[in-house]
Amino acid sequence: MCGIVGYLGRRQALPIIIKGLKRLEYRGYDSAGIALLNGSLDIVKKKGKVIDLENEIGSKPMDATLGMGHTRWATHGEPNDKNAHPHASTDGKLAIIHNGIIENYASLKKELEKSGHKFLSDTDTEVLIHLIEEIKIQNNCNIEEAVRLALNEVVGAYAIVVLSQDEERTLIAARKGSPLVIGIGEDEFFVASDATPIIEYTNNVTYLNDREMAIIKDGSLVVKNLENIVKTPFIQKLELDLEDIEKGGYAHFMLKEIFEQPKSIRDAMRGRLVLREHQLILSGIDQYLNRFINAERMLLIGCGTSWHAGLIGEYLFEDLARIPTEVEYASEFRYRNPVIRDKDIVIAISQSGETADTLAAIELAKSKGSLIFGVCNAVGSSIARTADAGAYLHAGPEIGVASTKAFTSQVTILAMMAMYLGLKKGTIPLSKYQELLNALDSVPDKVSKILSKADEILEISKSFYQATNFLYLGRGYNFPVALEGALKLKEISYIHAEGYPAAEMKHGPIALIDEEMPVVFIATKDSSYEKVISNIQEVKARKGKVIAIVTEGDTEIKGMADFTFEIPNIADPLVPLLAVVPLQLLSYHIAILRGCNVDQPRNLAKSVTVE
Ligand code: F6R
Repeated sequence: MCGIVGYLGRRQALPIIIKGLKRLEYRGYDSAGIALLNGSLDIVKKKGKVIDLENEIGSKPMDATLGMGHTRWATHGEPNDKNAHPHASTDGKLAIIHNGIIENYASLKKELEKSGHKFLSDTDTEVLIHLIEEIKIQNNCNIEEAVRLALNEVVGAYAIVVLSQDEERTLIAARKGSPLVIGIGEDEFFVASDATPIIEYTNNVTYLNDREMAIIKDGSLVVKNLENIVKTPFIQKLELDLEDIEKGGYAHFMLKEIFEQPKSIRDAMRGRLVLREHQLILSGIDQYLNRFINAERMLLIGCGTSWHAGLIGEYLFEDLARIPTEVEYASEFRYRNPVIRDKDIVIAISQSGETADTLAAIELAKSKGSLIFGVCNAVGSSIARTADAGAYLHAGPEIGVASTKAFTSQVTILAMMAMYLGLKKGTIPLSKYQELLNALDSVPDKVSKILSKADEILEISKSFYQATNFLYLGRGYNFPVALEGALKLKEISYIHAEGYPAAEMKHGPIALIDEEMPVVFIATKDSSYEKVISNIQEVKARKGKVIAIVTEGDTEIKGMADFTFEIPNIADPLVPLLAVVPLQLLSYHIAILRGCNVDQPRNLAKSVTVE
């Protein structure tokens, strides 16, 4: 949902900003633009990717040590040059970049038009810079004060950077609802949507809180809230390596992240699963153990892939800890007047920790007294900071727009939580708990084994990459895996795909099946194995093409499916951690064979900070 980067220091700003924008491109790639300030404001912007912006800049001399850049995921106004950021004020002396949505932009625009402001774009952002300009003129104040007053009039979400031609060595940034991190180097400052543009220059950072502004001028940083009260920034060390955000020899980030899963799953367990002592250490739960044990209900909240992880969480919590659990789309939950009780525990699942709907949903639940437990990847993210307690995924940055390693880490954390609570509540016997601990510990090696056969999936992909529809079917723990497999395929290959509980097929989707329809079954040897076999036969009887993910050594399904892929045997609750991996690979290879950009699929952005 748009990436922003700013620099004020002693080096040339342009290369720092361009490199930063490339790192942030996963957040949106409809257009890109920069503004550099060196005597006058120089703005260049272009529809398309950062590379198109670079071509537009060409060899133009752009000498400046202060500047900012933006990569856009369009909300208000189509992706074109004029809607690209930065946007300038009427007199051209002020410029802004923005990630978020100004919800009251229409009424503000009307007022500003009455005062003579003319707008060149269709964006909400341009309204904000005109508002700042108007306030600056009316109050005869400096840019810092004009931004502060303007933000007090704004409804919506924003992370912004503002530059003013009249205040040569000043950079103003502010946030509400959209992420913003400030890097503090030696005589230089960085501002960005996440830490990836900053990491190679400094690892001292501070995260702005909602309704806070950073005023960087005269070589120093001052943080204030919108009430003009000075805050002491909490400076922390970044735990991020440069190689984490590079492709490391893989063709795409998505492929790298799929192959990182043995490590990322292990990292999710590190310090938490102590096998030799048959122990799980989950300090986030221990902090509130009584509330967890006495919880009347768990509410698992997320969007997209994180919601799918939540659905597996529902099965896990009910199966192992016998806690009534509901999983909710954050976007529905927040607006449907849900019943929320103070004995509910809300688990917010989010890779980015910035998803606007999830954040709003947990704020609603928090206001009703629920305990909020965050399962996030991005350290210091808004959701992680809003939660009362939580468990980080420690999966490292996920840059491919399609979520892969975050999903398996989320499921790993949820599985550990359910096992732990099952033990504490006495709903699973010690022997089963220990069996599950051993099984969980075996997951990384089993995922490695699956990955070592990735070529088999490539071969299967060659037979299906021209299909126009896919069905994904699974039962029990494998139903959410079917949903996730379908989502992965549609988002990166643009093939229409649906996931269904296998038994539901006969209530409608079976009508779709003919010889053109590939049906992916997750048909591992679990409690519904026999029933899934019947569903496979129903598809074969209608000439559908069956691709089955089966347990190693399965011969029965091999005899009836067109293609099978074997995964190692594992306890039912942990099957999703293995079964999803071939489906991630299937979508990846199909998308590549279709010539799609897997890391930056059309219309998508990694971090959805708008509703
Ligand atoms: C799918 C995908 C999205 C995200 C969703 C939630 O591959 O990446 O569906 O899962 O936008 O994002 P987070 O987990 O950051 O809240």
